[in-house]
Amino acid sequence: MKKLLDLISEEMMQAFEAAGFDAELGKVSVSNRPDLCEYQCNGAMAGAKKYHKAPIMIANAVAEQLQDSKVLEGVTAVNPGFLNFNLSDSFLKEYVKELSESDKFGLEMPAQPKKIIIDYGGPNVAKPLHVGHLRSAVIGESIKRMQRFCGNDVTGDIHLGDWGLQMGLIITELQKRKPELCYFDDSFTGEYPAEAPFTISELEEIYPTASGKSKEDPAYKAEAMEATKKLQQGVRGYRALWDHIIKVSVTDLKQNYEKLNVEFDLWNGESSVHDAIPAMVTYMKEGGYAHISDGALVVDVKEETDTREIPPCMILKSDGASLYNTTDLATITVRMRDMKPDSIIYVVDKRQELYFEQVFRCARKTKLVKPETELHFVGFGTMNGSDGKPFKTRQGGVMRLENLIKEINEEMYGKITENQKDISDEEAKQISQMIALSAIKYGDLSNQASKDYCFDIDRFTSFEGDTGPYILYTIVRMKSILNKYKEQGGSLEGLQLQNPGSAAEKELMRTIAKFNAMMENANAELAPHKVCAFIYELSNAFNSFYHGTKILAEENAERKAGLVALLLLCKNMLETCIDVLGFAAPERM
Ligand code: ARG
Repeated sequence: MKKLLDLISEEMMQAFEAAGFDAELGKVSVSNRPDLCEYQCNGAMAGAKKYHKAPIMIANAVAEQLQDSKVLEGVTAVNPGFLNFNLSDSFLKEYVKELSESDKFGLEMPAQPKKIIIDYGGPNVAKPLHVGHLRSAVIGESIKRMQRFCGNDVTGDIHLGDWGLQMGLIITELQKRKPELCYFDDSFTGEYPAEAPFTISELEEIYPTASGKSKEDPAYKAEAMEATKKLQQGVRGYRALWDHIIKVSVTDLKQNYEKLNVEFDLWNGESSVHDAIPAMVTYMKEGGYAHISDGALVVDVKEETDTREIPPCMILKSDGASLYNTTDLATITVRMRDMKPDSIIYVVDKRQELYFEQVFRCARKTKLVKPETELHFVGFGTMNGSDGKPFKTRQGGVMRLENLIKEINEEMYGKITENQKDISDEEAKQISQMIALSAIKYGDLSNQASKDYCFDIDRFTSFEGDTGPYILYTIVRMKSILNKYKEQGGSLEGLQLQNPGSAAEKELMRTIAKFNAMMENANAELAPHKVCAFIYELSNAFNSFYHGTKILAEENAERKAGLVALLLLCKNMLETCIDVLGFAAPERM
């Protein structure tokens, strides 16, 4: 469907043309004086010079053309030459009706869907998820859903950190603790046990211990580096151990992401592309892209126009070991080969911006991607506590993600059991989890991703204000009205929208009508916060309408059906939007 503002502009442009002026002057914008009118056009002011006429004369001539318009109402020329006007009620009704009957509320699908890969989540195996991992998961999941909703072909890839020194550290520490394990016995030729020699909690303790030791003891670090190298070279026992680490860790990660309603299509990792590295390195050398600098293999990526120092992209360290860069570039190679994406989107901490700038430049310079392949870096800011410093536990430690979720679930459980007395404990828990998730996700997504934000539990869990729970509360209110309507014998089939009967109702319809333009723009800008801003506006518009309108008590049956139709549409739209954001509403709360 065409966008409402474009249709309004078209009407105005035709009027300019009919009055003998350039159609281009007829661009319309939303009024910046909503007390006077809904829309305005300032084209007459711009045309004055060209036509050597007073702007008010142009405006008057254009207004004249629009007296019988089916689209615009009350078009008035105002000194010195503005055109102020409203949208016709029946045109608005017809537009909203068409939108409610069309797929995806009138959002147009691309003629050619884009193939997109979203690289998000990015946890490191054997390390527990902490709040720092929240943002990539939440923002990435939402961008993925939004792109899908907008008709693109999207694959989400978690890109596990599963190949670096951390693996060598774990193996080294294990060997110190359990040297008798068959994985460390070079002469062992049998089949390795199916059971891992550690649990997830042991693993989560082993890694920080090993990491601590390696910082203090150079010999220990050297051992860990050696273990990393042996693992990467494919030493059998080390690979078997590594398989266990991955399996135990991924099982745990899956449970945690499930709690967040985050789902990956691919569970690839840095290790997945290990075998693609040698060919890529040869290609970069033979293509003359890479050269040796201080023993390391690098690709220069600085450009003349740079205003800051962009260091070369290192492909191999002087000892021949690969780095974070290497796996990212090799991942690009493999993705291009196997999936041929039009676009790759990375949702990563903004502190890695320079790093990605190097990687992207290197990928372009070495032609790992096509000139038209889009590479996007969506860098997000830090989640801070109320003190403005990175979010910590009350004791000042790093907050584990599962504990944060648990804390908010409990907070919500308290509220729900207070509000709803006749509810089973199981349902109370389930509802609390849904609201808690909305609090966490909306609290995050409603901020522009690149900005730091303050995770304020009291504010985020409030049922009032710009919060997830407020949006859910609005949806639950709508569901309850619809249920009552059905209890009264009403049916939700075949409801007909009516012309708006009040200013609040018209405002609600005008808000609904913005959906397609909003979604298209939010998606193009990879900006879930725009969807949040929209649903907050829509919820407010609905609540103002609801407070001033009798719906179930309306006596005129046709009008009542029209109001219910509007409410139903509004509920469906809100539910669609929160699904794009990655959460859902309960039946009651
Ligand atoms: N594992 C990385 C980290 O913890 C994040 C991965 C981001 N994605 C990527 N393709 N480099 O910093």
